[in-house]
Amino acid sequence: MTDKIYDVIIFGVTGFTGKLAVEYLLKKDDSSLKWAACARSESRAMATLKEIADSVDKPAPTLVIADLICQTAEDETKLRNIVASTKVVITAAGPFEKYGITLHKLCAEEGVHYADITGETSFFRHVIDQHDDKARTSKATLVSHCGNDCIPQDLTVFEMDKYAKSKGCKVRSIAIRRSLLTFLSLFRVKFIFTVPTYFAIFFGFTSSRKLRPWICFLPRQL
Ligand SMILES: NC(=O)c1ccc[n+]([C@@H]2O[C@H](COP(=O)([O-])OP(=O)(O)OC[C@H]3O[C@@H](n4cnc5c(N)ncnc54)[C@H](OP(=O)(O)O)[C@@H]3O)[C@@H](O)[C@H]2O)c1
Repeated sequence: MTDKIYDVIIFGVTGFTGKLAVEYLLKKDDSSLKWAACARSESRAMATLKEIADSVDKPAPTLVIADLICQTAEDETKLRNIVASTKVVITAAGPFEKYGITLHKLCAEEGVHYADITGETSFFRHVIDQHDDKARTSKATLVSHCGNDCIPQDLTVFEMDKYAKSKGCKVRSIAIRRSLLTFLSLFRVKFIFTVPTYFAIFFGFTSSRKLRPWICFLPRQL
C-alpha cells in the first residue's frame, strides 16, 4: 500500500447517501486524511460538491471522474488506475448489482480496502463467491452492508438491554421477525426511500432462492 495518492476515494458522491459521506468528511476537516470524490459526470459532481462545500464553509474536495459501468477494456483500466491510487474505496453508488460488481472486483485485485452500503444480499453473496480468494491473496478487506438496515435493530437492542439492566435483568437472546407484510408495508409509505433503495429491495426480493422459481418472470438484473 505504498505510493498511494489518496487514503480514501468516495464513489456515488452526487447521490443521497454519497453526499452525506462527503459532508461528513468535509466537516471532519482532518488534514491528515487525503481523500477524493469520484463521479461519472464532471459538471454534476462539481456543482454538487461545491454546494456541499459551501454549506459547511470548506473548500470542495478533489474530484476524479470514472463511470462504474465499464463498457470497454479502456474504461476498466481507467477505473483500475483510480482504485489503485487509494488505500480505501467507499461506495454509495447503487443499485450495487448494476454499478458495484466491477469496482468490487478491482478492489479485490488491487489490494484496496472496500466498504459499501448495499442491502442487496444477492450482490454480496455473488462478490464473496467471485472475489474472496483474490481479496485474501491481495490482502484487501472488503466490507459490504455497512449500516444497512441495522441501526433500528441495534438501537432497539441497546434500549432493551438498558431497560433490562434497570430492572436487574439481562437480555439473553434477540429474535427479529421479518414477514412479507413488513416488506409490503414499505411501499405504503410514499417517499420513505430513494428510488435506488427501492431497486435494492426489489433485487433482494427477486434474488431470494426460495422465491425465484415463483417470480422468474421478473428480471434478474436491469
Ligand atoms: N446502508 C444503508 O442503510 C443504505 C441507506 C440508503 C441507501 N442505501 C443503498 O445505497 C444505494 C444508493 O442509494 P442513494 O439513495 O444514495 O442513491 P442515489 O441518490 O440515486 O445515488 C446513486 C449514486 O450512484 C451514482 N451512479 C449511478 N450510476 C453510476 C455509474 N454508472 N458510474 C458512477 N456512478 C454512478 C450516481 O451518480 P449520478 O449522479 O451520476 O447518477 C449517484 O451518485 C442504493 O443501492 C441503496 O439501496 C443503503
